[in-house]
Amino acid sequence: MTIAPAVEAPRAARADEPWGARGLTIAFDRGGTVVDALDLAVRPGELVAVLGPSGCGKSTLLRVLADLPAPGTRVLAGTVHRPDAVPPAPAVAWLPQRDGLLPWRRALANATLGAQIAGVDLGAARERARELFTVFGLAGYERAWPHELSGGMRQRLALLRTCLVGARLLLLDEPFGALDALTRRRMNAWLADLDLRAAAGGTEPSAVVLVTHDVDEALTLADRVLVLSARPARLVLELDVQGAAGADGDEDARRRVLAALDAAADDDHVAARGGRPGMGGARRGLSREAAGRPGAPDRAHDRSENA
Ligand SMILES: Nc1ncnc2c1ncn2[C@@H]1O[C@H](COP(=O)(O)OP(=O)(O)OP(=O)(O)O)[C@@H](O)[C@H]1O
Ligand SMILES: [Mg+2]
Repeated sequence: MTIAPAVEAPRAARADEPWGARGLTIAFDRGGTVVDALDLAVRPGELVAVLGPSGCGKSTLLRVLADLPAPGTRVLAGTVHRPDAVPPAPAVAWLPQRDGLLPWRRALANATLGAQIAGVDLGAARERARELFTVFGLAGYERAWPHELSGGMRQRLALLRTCLVGARLLLLDEPFGALDALTRRRMNAWLADLDLRAAAGGTEPSAVVLVTHDVDEALTLADRVLVLSARPARLVLELDVQGAAGADGDEDARRRVLAALDAAADDDHVAARGGRPGMGGARRGLSREAAGRPGAPDRAHDRSENA
């Protein structure tokens, strides 16, 4: 078995820095750079959504933030700053893109696994899990085996397990990809509510990084949306959408995010054909901002504390 190397950032983060990453560059032993000088800041009470073309490096980024890199992952530069753990809960809980349920444990036992590993009181975790089974539409399936659940049910169970760990920072990798539209809306509402409870000082996680391919989901749930370029992932758009209230604001944010994604995907195709990346957006008459020039992210509503 290969043991993943511990990821140590070259410079220690200051305690007052926001959680997330600063100037993070990640490479694979085999395959080169995958994330390039990326800043991702998330503060208590915030939900940050991360969008980007398939294969750009989102899952790799999340794994490094979770301190669970795949074997052969190397952090070349930058810092990662995680919240302090509040024992027995760990600082960070990661929901992988694949649900990672254990086939030999029933649904309830899968749900409490992370909490059990973390050393959270099992009785309390089971009680909380039973409540969440109802909230997540899984009531009655506590004793089901994972193979008896649909793809969407497995996904909800995996999310439930991640939440039960009691970590302050949740890293969710496409948690709603396999859900039908109605269930997805319900889970979105739950996540939005979770954030509100966190802001009110509850015991739920206090910040979330959500990787998604769904622009509307990102705009509905997030305080901030980050759009990444094709591999190696660079920040091409950072949009504060919390203030984008009203139909016009939402439509403007949507247009900008879609344009940035469009340009990133275009660059991906140009690069795949052996052309020069970076021409896609410009060729299509998009603005410089939407074309997502590497190294020049559009911090559209940059907050002063970001500076
Ligand atoms: N362990 C690994 N070793 C080498 N290369 C890898 C490894 N894991 C992923 N990659 C490569 O790194 C790139 C980014 O992969 P990653 O899974 O982070 O993308 P992603 O943005 O999450 O994509 P998707 O939206 O499809 O989930 C891809 O080119 C992938 O082939
Ligand atoms: Mg992924």
